[in-house]
Amino acid sequence: MNKKQSVLLVGATGYLGSYILRQLLNQNYSVRVVVRNPQKLPQVDKEHYEVIEGEVTKPSTLKNCCENVDVVISTVGITRQKDGLTYMDVDYQANLNVLEEAIKRKVKKFIYVSVLHGDKMKNVKICVAKEKFVERLRHSSLDYTIIRPNGFFSDLTEFYQMAKRGRVYLFGNGQVKINPIHGEDLAKVCVGAIRKSEIEIKVGGPEVLTHRSIAFLAFMALNKKPKITYIPDWVRIASIKFVKTFISSKTYGPIEFFLTVMARDDMIAPKYGRHTLKTYFENVDL
Ligand SMILES: NC(=O)c1ccc[n+]([C@@H]2O[C@H](COP(=O)([O-])OP(=O)(O)OC[C@H]3O[C@@H](n4cnc5c(N)ncnc54)[C@H](OP(=O)(O)O)[C@@H]3O)[C@@H](O)[C@H]2O)c1
Repeated sequence: MNKKQSVLLVGATGYLGSYILRQLLNQNYSVRVVVRNPQKLPQVDKEHYEVIEGEVTKPSTLKNCCENVDVVISTVGITRQKDGLTYMDVDYQANLNVLEEAIKRKVKKFIYVSVLHGDKMKNVKICVAKEKFVERLRHSSLDYTIIRPNGFFSDLTEFYQMAKRGRVYLFGNGQVKINPIHGEDLAKVCVGAIRKSEIEIKVGGPEVLTHRSIAFLAFMALNKKPKITYIPDWVRIASIKFVKTFISSKTYGPIEFFLTVMARDDMIAPKYGRHTLKTYFENVDL
């Protein structure tokens, strides 16, 4: 009988990581997670996997985390965290700390979640940090896969929140398109990558939607009359300049990423999955 493959997951307390944890257990992998706060782990029977309390930003707490591990999956990165750390501290250095442990323990494969076109957004701080890590991973001795999703459903709750407040603000004419993906669908892609040889997987969800139709879906889910204000694109460009000049980089990072991605007309990725945004908005609890 084949031995179960052993997977170390870092990021298990996050949106995507929690779905990956469930997916790994469903597929009968032997799973270890490193988390700084075990209370945030999803409601999955803890007897079925191993929990190490550690901080990916502190290499001394990672010793032995890769012992007997075949594959590492990392979704670690700053999204909404307010720890006073930079993208370079977390998206780059913390992932590098894990990679160095993986190399020491001769792990076979490292799967890392970056962003679609992260390598092209060289002026966006989060992408610079992520792609710097991608380069280190490419030049490591390990097999690897870079997952490049476009947008997560969890991020589109911003549209839902605006609709709940009564009005959605869109840049330009609202016709920019994206096919965002649900965490559960993306988790299947990440876990599937364990057995695949592709070094890069670009992926999005099953439906291509304009920003305008995303706003409509949010209003429909709330049973509210759609009210949309279109903001000229020069305001978006000026906003990026403004936040970069007047707001600390720790705060402006997510705003800069959001404002940049909102205007890109190349955020459609190969379609995958079954979850629709309509159902997500109908069930979201905010
Ligand atoms: N959201 C999108 O649309 C999108 C699109 C493409 C790619 N991505 C990338 O996909 C990845 C996963 O996204 P997500 O939405 O699942 O993010 P998330 O929910 O914020 O999860 C991020 C994970 O990283 C950990 N983390 C962050 N800062 C940390 C720190 N200082 N020390 C230790 N752990 C830390 C978090 O731990 P705690 O729970 O303890 O904070 C959490 O487990 C991210 O790297 C993100 O940039 C996101």
